[in-house]
Amino acid sequence: MSDPKESSLHDKARSETAFNKPDYWVGDADVTSLKRAGADGIQLRLDGVDHTARPTWKLRETIEFYRDILGLPLVHTISARGWGQVNHPDFLHFFFDAGKGALIAFFYYIGTDRPEKYEPEDHWFFNSNHTAWAVDSREELDRWKETLEARGLHVSPHIRHEILESIYFTDPNGYPLEISLRLRDIEPLDGRDAELTLEAAMQLEDELRKNGDRLHDIDTVWRRKGKLVQDLIDGGA
Ligand SMILES: [Fe+2]
Repeated sequence: MSDPKESSLHDKARSETAFNKPDYWVGDADVTSLKRAGADGIQLRLDGVDHTARPTWKLRETIEFYRDILGLPLVHTISARGWGQVNHPDFLHFFFDAGKGALIAFFYYIGTDRPEKYEPEDHWFFNSNHTAWAVDSREELDRWKETLEARGLHVSPHIRHEILESIYFTDPNGYPLEISLRLRDIEPLDGRDAELTLEAAMQLEDELRKNGDRLHDIDTVWRRKGKLVQDLIDGGA
């Protein structure tokens, strides 16, 4: 039997206008109308990952995969009646310990079916949406691959890309997981390099889109970046 006092609190929460009409998750941020960090002089900071969160429609498989196969401790569960919004399903929101205070979280929306758009796809657009979890040594990366394979999981070969070496596999939801070893520290020069690469790409995108065209390859970006570097050299920077 439901507690009448609790029910009325719940109804009150559901009737809150701010909760019923959230405006912080609607639409795309329009950067042209936003103030720049440099303009107000405030430098905001982040301090690592608290948690990632994804929906699951496979409760048991998800818990067994992360807790019993990967061996990550299940450390917290929020059991919520809705989320204060009308028609919001009740849910379980559960968290696994991913080290250094970071958590891997899932939402299990009770009584719902997975919409088609959340079906896993064999496409790099789908796989690009992932989180990479860190290990701190090559031995540990090797241990993850060997151990998960011995537990029956299909794991990618070690893949090296610039500052990272990674292994990849998928969870029961089809979500891609990556475990990464940072091969070296990121130096200030890496940031300068990133600025030049992306400045070249943004310039080209702006120019090409004005003519109804678009970027077609990375070589064009490299050539423009080369020009930007040459301009810096010529300018004595
Ligand atoms: Fe990645």
